Amino acid sequence: MPLWDGRFDEGPGSDMVAFSQSLDVDLRMWREDVQGSRAHVAVLREAALITDAEATTLLEGLDRVAQELSEGTFLPGPELEDVHMAVETRLTEIVGDVGKKLHTARSRNDQVATDVRLWLRTRLGRLRAGLAQLVQALLERVEAEGQAVIPGFTHLQRGQPILLGHHLLAHAWPLQRDASRVDDALARLDACPLGAGAMAGTPHPIDRGVAARQLGFSAPVPNAMDAVAARDHLIEAASVCAIVMSHLSRQAEEMVLWSSSEFGVLRMGEAYTTGSSIMPQKRNPDAAELVRGKAGRVFGDLMALLTMVKGLPLAYNRDLQEDRQALFDAVDTTVACVRICSGIWHTSRFEAEGYEAALQGDFLLATELADYLVRKDVPFRDAHHAAGRAVAWCEARGGDLSLLTADALMQIHAAFDADALTWLDPRGAAERRASLGGTASAAMAPQVQSLSTWAEAVPEAS
Ligand code: ARG
Repeated sequence: MPLWDGRFDEGPGSDMVAFSQSLDVDLRMWREDVQGSRAHVAVLREAALITDAEATTLLEGLDRVAQELSEGTFLPGPELEDVHMAVETRLTEIVGDVGKKLHTARSRNDQVATDVRLWLRTRLGRLRAGLAQLVQALLERVEAEGQAVIPGFTHLQRGQPILLGHHLLAHAWPLQRDASRVDDALARLDACPLGAGAMAGTPHPIDRGVAARQLGFSAPVPNAMDAVAARDHLIEAASVCAIVMSHLSRQAEEMVLWSSSEFGVLRMGEAYTTGSSIMPQKRNPDAAELVRGKAGRVFGDLMALLTMVKGLPLAYNRDLQEDRQALFDAVDTTVACVRICSGIWHTSRFEAEGYEAALQGDFLLATELADYLVRKDVPFRDAHHAAGRAVAWCEARGGDLSLLTADALMQIHAAFDADALTWLDPRGAAERRASLGGTASAAMAPQVQSLSTWAEAVPEAS
C-alpha cells in the first residue's frame, strides 16, 4: 500500500496504479528530489522538529538512496507512484521510523514544484551554454568563408549581393537574444517553493529561508498557494525553447536549401548527412530536416502546457503531473537541436563559387545604378526609375546588366558617366554598404567582435 494508505481499505486497482504513476517520467529528477529533501532536513533541524542525531541519520540515509539510484541497485516499481514517494519509501526502509519524519511540514506538491525548478535551472544553464557554442560555430564559418559574395534574398528571390558573413551573423544575433531570454526565465524561477505544504503553509515553526538558501534560491516563493499552483515558469521555459526552435528551424531550412543541387553552395559534413536505401548517389541533409521537424514538436509542448493550466482551479490538481512530459521533451529536444546545429556548422563548408553565375546574371546589381545616380545628386525616386529603365533596356535585348554600355546608360539618364559600369561589380556593391549593420566587411567586424566577446563570457554548463 502507498504512503497515503490510511483512509483506504484496499487501495487503487492495478490499472489505476499503472495509469497514475509518473515514475517513468519523473524518476530522472531523483537528484533534485534528494537535494530538496536534504534542504528540508536542514529546515526541520533548524526548527527543532528533529534532533541533530535524526538529521544525521536522515542525511546519511538520503546519501544511500542517491547512491543506490545512481548505481541502479534501487529500481522503484510503479506502485511507488512517483520519484518523491520512491525516495521517501526507500529512505524509510534504510533508516527506519525516523524516515517517516521527513514529510513533516512539506507535501508532494511543494516537492514537485521545488524539484522542477532545480531541474530547470540546470537545464536552462545548459541551453544557454549551448547557444553560446552555436554562435561560436557560426562565427567560425564567418571567419573561414564569410568574405564570399553571395546573393541576399527577399521573397526567396535574389535581391542584392552581400557577404556570406552578413547572412550568417543574421542567424547568430537571434541566438544571443535567446540566451538573454534564458536569463530572464532563470531570474523568474529563482524562488523556492519548499515548505509551502499542500497550499496553505504549515503550523510548524519552519524558516523557509533555510531551504531557499541551501538550494541556492534568492528567496522563498512568497505565497504558499502560488508556490504549488504556478506553472508559468514552465511555460516560459517552453516558450524560450519554442523561440529557439523557430530560429534553428530557419537555419535548418537554409542548410537544406543551400546543400541542394539547385543551390549547391553548402557542403554538409558527412557526420550529419545520411544516405538513401534506394538511391545510391544521395547524401541527404537529414540532421537539418530533423531539427526543422522537431521544432513542431516543441511548439506542441508549449501548447500542451498552456492548455493544461487554462481554466485549472487553484491550487494543485493532478492534471499538473502531465507538465513534466511536455517540459522535459521541450528542453531535451531544444538542447539536443542546439548541439546538432553547432555540429553541422562546424563540419560544413561553403562552396560559394556556386553563386558566381547567379551574381553575374540577373539584375541583382540594379540597385547599384540607382545608388550611383544618388551620388550624382539625383533624387532616389528618379534614380530608381532610371535604373528600372536600364533593366528594361537589357530585357528588351534579351540579356542582363552585362549588356549595358556607358553610352546606353548616358542615354537613359544624363547623370551617368563612364565610371558607372564599375559599380556593376558584386563585391564592390557589398563593400559599399558599410553603414552600421551593413554587409561590408568593415561593418561585420564589430559584430563578430561583440558576439565572440559575449559567447566567451557565457558561463559553462554544470
Ligand atoms: N506525482 C504527482 C505529480 O507529479 C505528485 C503530486 C501528488 N499530489 C497529490 N495531491 N496527489 O504531480
